[in-house]
Amino acid sequence: MDIVTIHNLKKYFGKGACTVKAIDGINLSIEKGKFTAIIGASGSGKTTLMNIIGGLYEPTEGTVIVDGVNLSELTEEELTVFRRRKVGFIFQDYNLVPELTIKENILFPLKLDDSRPDKVFFEEITRVLGLQDKLARYPYMLSGGGQQRTAIARALITKPAIILADEPTGSFDAKTSQNVAGLLKMAAEAYHQTLIMITHNLELAQLADRVVRIQDGRIRR
Ligand SMILES: Nc1ncnc2c1ncn2[C@@H]1O[C@H](COP(=O)(O)OP(=O)(O)O)[C@@H](O)[C@H]1O
Ligand SMILES: [Mg+2]
Repeated sequence: MDIVTIHNLKKYFGKGACTVKAIDGINLSIEKGKFTAIIGASGSGKTTLMNIIGGLYEPTEGTVIVDGVNLSELTEEELTVFRRRKVGFIFQDYNLVPELTIKENILFPLKLDDSRPDKVFFEEITRVLGLQDKLARYPYMLSGGGQQRTAIARALITKPAIILADEPTGSFDAKTSQNVAGLLKMAAEAYHQTLIMITHNLELAQLADRVVRIQDGRIRR
C-alpha cells in the first residue's frame, strides 16, 4: 500500500525569465512503512519535494496524495492539522525553539495540538535518544548532535505516519551519521512509520529500502 502518491508534480519559483523549475514533472509512489532515501546534487529539488509532501509548499501543478488525502483539497486550517498530526519534520537546521528547554521543545508539537503527552512514550524516546539527563537544559547547551536528537524526538512524539528528514546528519562525522540514521530507521520500524530521508551520503542511503535519485527536478531512472 502506498502512503504517498505524486502525479505530474511541478513546482516553479519566480516568474518569467527568472522562473526556477525546482520540481519539473515528478511521478512517485512511496510504500507505507518503508524507508526511502532521496539523493541528488545540491539544488536538484530534494527539499522542495519534501516540503510539498509535508504540505508546507503548494505545487504549481500536479497532485499529491498523502495517506489517502489529496492535499490540494485541504483548506489552510486542514493543512495545518495534517502537518501536525501526520507528519514529523526533521529540518536541516533543527529549528529548535531557543527559549524552550529540551523537554519543552520535544513536547511542543503536542502543545500546539492541545493533546497530552504519553508519558511512557516520552520516556522511551528520550531514553533511546540519550536525552533523559538533558531535558532541563536549553538547546544552546547541547552539542549539534544533541540538538539533532532533540529534533528527532520532537518529530517522533506525535507518532506521525510519516517522518520527513532533510539531511538529518548533514553536519556530523561518518560514525555519528550512521548512528543517527540507524536510530531514525529503528524508530520508524518500531512505530510502523514511513521514513523519507534526504541525504548526500551514499553510505546512509544504503540503509534504506529504496533510493530515489533526483536530478534537475526530475527522478533519474
Ligand atoms: N523558496 C524558494 N524561492 C526561490 N527559489 C527556490 C526556493 N526554494 C528552492 N528554490 C530553488 O529551487 C531549486 C531546488 O532547491 P531545493 O529544493 O532546495 O534543492 P536541494 O534541497 O536538492 O538542494 C534551487 O534552484 C533553489 O535555488
Ligand atoms: Mg535541500
